[in-house]
Amino acid sequence: MRIDPQNAFFRCVEDSSEAIMISDRSGTLLYVNPAWQRIYGFSANEAIGKTPGLLHSGLHSKLFYDKMWEQIRDPKVGHWKGELINRCKDGSLVPVLLTITPVRSTHGEITGYMGVAVDVRFRKDLEAKVAHQDRLASVGLLASGIAHEIGTPLGVIRGRAEIIAGNLDAAGGDPATIARIQKSLEVIVGQADRISRLIQSLLGMSRSFGELQLRTFEAKQVIDEVLALVGQNLRTDRVSIHLDIEPGLEVIADSSRLQQIILNLLTNSTHAIRKAMRLGRTSGHEVTIRLKSYGDRVLLSVTDSGCGIPEQMLNEIFKPFFTTKDVGEGTGLGLSIVTQLVKEIDAEIEVRSTEGVGTTFTIALRKPQAQA
Ligand SMILES: Nc1ncnc2c1ncn2[C@@H]1O[C@H](COP(=O)(O)OP(=O)(O)O)[C@@H](O)[C@H]1O
Ligand SMILES: [Mg+2]
Repeated sequence: MRIDPQNAFFRCVEDSSEAIMISDRSGTLLYVNPAWQRIYGFSANEAIGKTPGLLHSGLHSKLFYDKMWEQIRDPKVGHWKGELINRCKDGSLVPVLLTITPVRSTHGEITGYMGVAVDVRFRKDLEAKVAHQDRLASVGLLASGIAHEIGTPLGVIRGRAEIIAGNLDAAGGDPATIARIQKSLEVIVGQADRISRLIQSLLGMSRSFGELQLRTFEAKQVIDEVLALVGQNLRTDRVSIHLDIEPGLEVIADSSRLQQIILNLLTNSTHAIRKAMRLGRTSGHEVTIRLKSYGDRVLLSVTDSGCGIPEQMLNEIFKPFFTTKDVGEGTGLGLSIVTQLVKEIDAEIEVRSTEGVGTTFTIALRKPQAQA
């Protein structure tokens, strides 16, 4: 097979915005167009002479490829179309919708193959986001339903336990036994409170923050408010807090939502630091809150020297009910709530983490127009 650069058809292929590759009958690449080189990061020189195996991600079985070739060679089907994951030169993975069609001579024999790959990264992201939103919506619905159904009897149980505890002395009896019963009643009250808190945080996902009130205010103000609330707790946990704040930065947001976001991040940071301590780290228990201007955004970041997050877990942590913590310490709802609040105030969130070193969550907040 010969490629004629003067040919008008050649220009169509060359200028196409979809990645196109052409191979000979044995699968050796003869040609890749510029879009192909852009998506995968290999130059034409690097690709030509190799096989498309260059792009194998290792995520598909041999059976997958065997079936693919079976279909392409079967004259009744004559092509293969499907989604697969390729690996780019830099090692990153890209999902593509690939069509492979045999190129035939005028006599009908296969002389080579053409593959057209459409990068569906954007669509995948969107699908994942929609699925996430769906899950959040169903959690919200569930929460308001169970909040009432569980909340009411729970309140009764808690109340009765307190009444019994209050009347135990009057009932008389062996003081040691009374003390034991009292202890058990305390456990009942404590556990009831734990369920209440879980229900409250579930409810937090569906409403409870009231009407969205977007105002312009100095971002530092909210950080100060949060630290006034929890700063003391952090210090008693032997965590030192550092502030690195560019003065006078204003944002447009809802301050109670922003407060809740920072609170959740700080809570996770202290848990992560505690875990690092349990794993034997003895110094450097720090949380740094930064505020700086970046283009038309104000970046608010919370960095901790905690246990860090394994890379393969980074996609999981924002999902409802995903937690690595023991029962009682985590519900797995914190970052789901944060994601929802961040969306409501038209901000964006990003996480970077190194296992064993620490984690930074960054929120990109909106600036008032005049400042942008
Ligand atoms: N700063 C952090 N450092 C390390 N791991 C974190 C951090 N923030 C979140 N995570 C991980 O993400 C998971 C989900 O967090 P979250 O949604 O707040 O739920 P929870 O804190 O109840 O587990 C945590 O269980 C933890 O594994
Ligand atoms: Mg949390």
